[in-house]
Amino acid sequence: MSMINHERISSGIEGLDVLMNGGIIKNTINSIVGSSGTGKTTFALAYLYQGLLEGDHTLYLSFEETPSKLIGEAESLGINIRNMTNDAEDLIHLVESEKIVEFMTNILPALAQKLKHRNVKHTRIILDPLTPILWEFPSEKEQRKVLTKIYHHLSSLGTVLQTVEEPNAFGQTDIGAKETRVPIYLSDSVIHIQNLGLGGKYSRTCKIIKSRKTPHHEGIYPLNFVNGPGLVIDTSSVQGAIIDPVVNDIRYQELMKRVKELSKDKDPKKRVIAQIAKNLLGERERDGSQNIEFVEVLTNKQVLQEVKK
Ligand SMILES: Nc1ncnc2c1ncn2[C@@H]1O[C@H](COP(=O)(O)OP(=O)(O)OP(=O)(O)O)[C@@H](O)[C@H]1O
Ligand SMILES: [Mg+2]
Repeated sequence: MSMINHERISSGIEGLDVLMNGGIIKNTINSIVGSSGTGKTTFALAYLYQGLLEGDHTLYLSFEETPSKLIGEAESLGINIRNMTNDAEDLIHLVESEKIVEFMTNILPALAQKLKHRNVKHTRIILDPLTPILWEFPSEKEQRKVLTKIYHHLSSLGTVLQTVEEPNAFGQTDIGAKETRVPIYLSDSVIHIQNLGLGGKYSRTCKIIKSRKTPHHEGIYPLNFVNGPGLVIDTSSVQGAIIDPVVNDIRYQELMKRVKELSKDKDPKKRVIAQIAKNLLGERERDGSQNIEFVEVLTNKQVLQEVKK
């Protein structure tokens, strides 16, 4: 297992970062797969909005809808893109169907190079939906060749979120469908969203199908449209943190350092806290990462300030 502590960004979809062990890993390709009307575009718009909040550079390529329609849809859910910039419509680029091949094979790689030279800190790239590109290259072999090339350019530039249409009738699902196979195979992470129309909590759901380089929660979680954040994943059934031995080990070492410092503090109360924290860290194997979370809070600067009073 690699010892790299991946840099992550917040997805902008409430609950998703929890399921993904802290957020989307930078410079990866992430797919939102779902049939028509499941909320893929809303996902993409929330991701864009989060980027604006964080001062990221953004590149939203729409292969279907006009910028004004997308911004309007976001607004109807309380995602106020217009509040973030004077030229909201310039944030989204509509790529017309007759220009897709030219765009993907020539313009996009050139754009990637240009942005790279401008030393942009981080870019969020959105392809919504990828499906028309797949139609241009009907053979899987060709799709694989073209997408590999595009992803290579894009992931060097930033963190990609693409939406992929699942070709099923309402309520049906087939994550292995031929139409979605290549993008799923080439993506670093795949999030499957469904609208089963069952009514109740699990009418719309979300499940992480895969996530390279990092562990993730395995369940199926309720997904809701909520005015403000746009989309919210209900993670109340998640029990504890995901136990990732590598991440935990890095956190363990950092916390041990913190505890050692604290055990030398002239305030006896703090030395007691250090002792408790040390015991908890020593027992960490017993119930996984929960002790680590606890020590993190216990030895937090603000908490220690309170102790002083
Ligand atoms: N406030 C809301 N409450 C419940 N459902 C909503 C709300 N706003 C939008 N929707 C649903 O979300 C759907 C559209 O979501 P979105 O455009 O994100 O889906 P999509 O997967 O991108 O669809 P498409 O396949 O058309 O691209 C609408 O058809 C509607 O059913
Ligand atoms: Mg859409």
